[in-house]
Amino acid sequence: QRQNEIDSLYIALNFAKDFFKQQLQTPDGQAIGLSYFKERDLRDGTIDAFDLGYSSSAWDAFTKEALSKHYNLDILQKAGLTIVNDKGRQYDRFRDRVIFPIHNLSGRVIAFGARIMTNDKNQPKYLNSPETEVYHKSRILYGIYQAKNAIRQVDNCYLAEGYMDVISLHQAGIQNVVASSGTSLTKEQIQLISRFTKNVTMLYDGDAAGIKASIRGTDLLLEEGLNVKIVIFPDNDDPDSYVRKVGSVAFQEFVKNNSQDFITFKVKLYSKEIKDDPYRKSEVIKEMVASNIKIPDPIQRSVFRRQIAHLLDVDEQTLITEENFLIKKER
Ligand code: GTP
Ligand code: MN
Ligand code: MN
Ligand code: MN
Ligand code: MN
Repeated sequence: QRQNEIDSLYIALNFAKDFFKQQLQTPDGQAIGLSYFKERDLRDGTIDAFDLGYSSSAWDAFTKEALSKHYNLDILQKAGLTIVNDKGRQYDRFRDRVIFPIHNLSGRVIAFGARIMTNDKNQPKYLNSPETEVYHKSRILYGIYQAKNAIRQVDNCYLAEGYMDVISLHQAGIQNVVASSGTSLTKEQIQLISRFTKNVTMLYDGDAAGIKASIRGTDLLLEEGLNVKIVIFPDNDDPDSYVRKVGSVAFQEFVKNNSQDFITFKVKLYSKEIKDDPYRKSEVIKEMVASNIKIPDPIQRSVFRRQIAHLLDVDEQTLITEENFLIKKER
């Protein structure tokens, strides 16, 4: 029974994906949706590889079409595609937006992200499918289907924030990239990556939100035993804008030269504020020790401990004492 329903959800989601793709080729879709993608420098092959689409501003274009093809209203609702309001009126969740299908590991469409094409501050820039029986946003990463082989081959996973970061890098020939899509990284998402590689390079936005998310993500990745590198982009840039600005060769070069381990990342991040403030400095040392004890591998932990000692000019024995204190406290 439940399996039947899940199959029906997949079929409806796939129908929706095809519908939105078709819409992109209608005269309106070309004038509005396709030209939006072109403005963002996307090529036809890229648009196709990611199944990108378009939804018109009509209230119920998709729902009408689906019902006429005998899709069940209950299933359309459960798939997060159709909304029925208190007055019983049926309308499409995604309207007047470009559409980014979200694929699971085996390539099935399980949800959608949808972006407005204007700078209207009164509505959310991106709208996402709700949690459904087939879409658990904490368990999936955007782009994993398109990236998985490359991740395994390169033995490294680039982790970005947004849809366009994944797509732009992919178009630039950098295919080992996925995105957490704005939500904070979860343990399940990290375990998904670790099926393909143990090495993650975080490519988060160079703004305050991106830096904060990098710090949080770092600890979680360390806890799961992954090797973490962090790249911070120039302020106001993200991987998408940066790769379009400098091209793929210079992008790779930038990533290579600016990949920092988490210790260096934190020391640099805090260097200004700890320079003349021993109180702040001791707080930072404590925070770094707290990160370091999350590393399961004892040898790695000791290598990083030495680095903390070196960069922050404290002796290793003090760090070990603090580690033991924290470990006892956590028990
Ligand atoms: P572009 O402006 O299209 O380049 O988007 P971006 O990916 O650079 O946006 P940003 O850095 O602001 O956000 C990163 C990611 O967070 C996006 O790709 C989305 O997945 C998610 N996100 C951003 N804004 C919203 C929002 O308003 N609602 C939701 N649900 N997610 C959002
Ligand atoms: Mn935002
Ligand atoms: Mn951002
Ligand atoms: Mn962007
Ligand atoms: Mn961004």
